Amino acid sequence: MKTNKQYIELSKKTAAERAVEFIEDGMILGLGTGSTAEYAIKKIAEKKLNIVAVPTSRRTEKLAKKLRIPLAKMDEYREIDMDIDGADEVDPEFNLIKGGGGAHTREKRIAERSKKFIVVVDHTKLVKKLGNFPVPVEVEPSRKEFVEEKLRELDGIPRLREDFITDNGNIIIDTRFDIENPRELEEKLNSIPGVIENGVFSKRKPEIIIVGYGTEVKILKRKNESR
Ligand code: 5RP
Repeated sequence: MKTNKQYIELSKKTAAERAVEFIEDGMILGLGTGSTAEYAIKKIAEKKLNIVAVPTSRRTEKLAKKLRIPLAKMDEYREIDMDIDGADEVDPEFNLIKGGGGAHTREKRIAERSKKFIVVVDHTKLVKKLGNFPVPVEVEPSRKEFVEEKLRELDGIPRLREDFITDNGNIIIDTRFDIENPRELEEKLNSIPGVIENGVFSKRKPEIIIVGYGTEVKILKRKNESR
C-alpha cells in the first residue's frame, strides 16, 4: 500500500517518463527544473537519447552534466524543438504557475523559443483556478520595497523567499493573488519597474500537459495550437 506521498512521486515519474517518448532523434531539447522534470532528465540519460539539451537552471545543468547529457548554452540555439518542464499549478485553459524552484525566468524564455512545450505534472497540480500557489516574482534586489508596494496595490500579499537568490542574482517575492485573469496579471506584474519576470505562464502555454495518476497518465492537448 502506497502512502499519498509515494503515490504523488510515482505520478510525477510516470508523467515525466511518458513525455520522453515524444522526443525525436537529433532534437534540441529544453530541460526543465524541479523534481518532476528531473525524472524526465534521468530517463533521457538512461535511454542515451541523441539530443542536445538546453538547461533552464544551474540545478538542471548540474544534473544533466553528471548524467553526461550533451548540453548547449542558453542562447546557442534561437529555436528549440521541444521543452519538457514541470509546473506548480495548471488550470483548465492551460495557464500555469511556475517558479516554485525559482527558475521561471529562464524557463519562460526557453518555453517561448520552443516549437513544442510539454508540461509534466502529478494530478495534484490541476486546479480549477490559479492562485492557491503564490506567484513567484523575480525582482532586482535594490527594488524590493518599491515592488512590494506595487504588489500590494495590485491586491497581492507579497512574501520574500528567505535565503534564496536566483541564478540571475535576484530575489523572489512569492505573492498571493486572487487570480481572475491570468493574462492581465502576467502583464501587470511585468510592467512594474524592477520585476524581471513572474511565474504566470498565460501567453506561452503548453501544447501538451501530461498528468500522472500513479502508473497511469492523461494526456491533455490544447485545442487552439496558436500561441
Ligand atoms: C521551477 C518550476 C518547477 O517546474 C515547478 O516548481 C514544479 O516543481 P516540482 O516538479 O518539483 O513540483 O517551475 O522553477
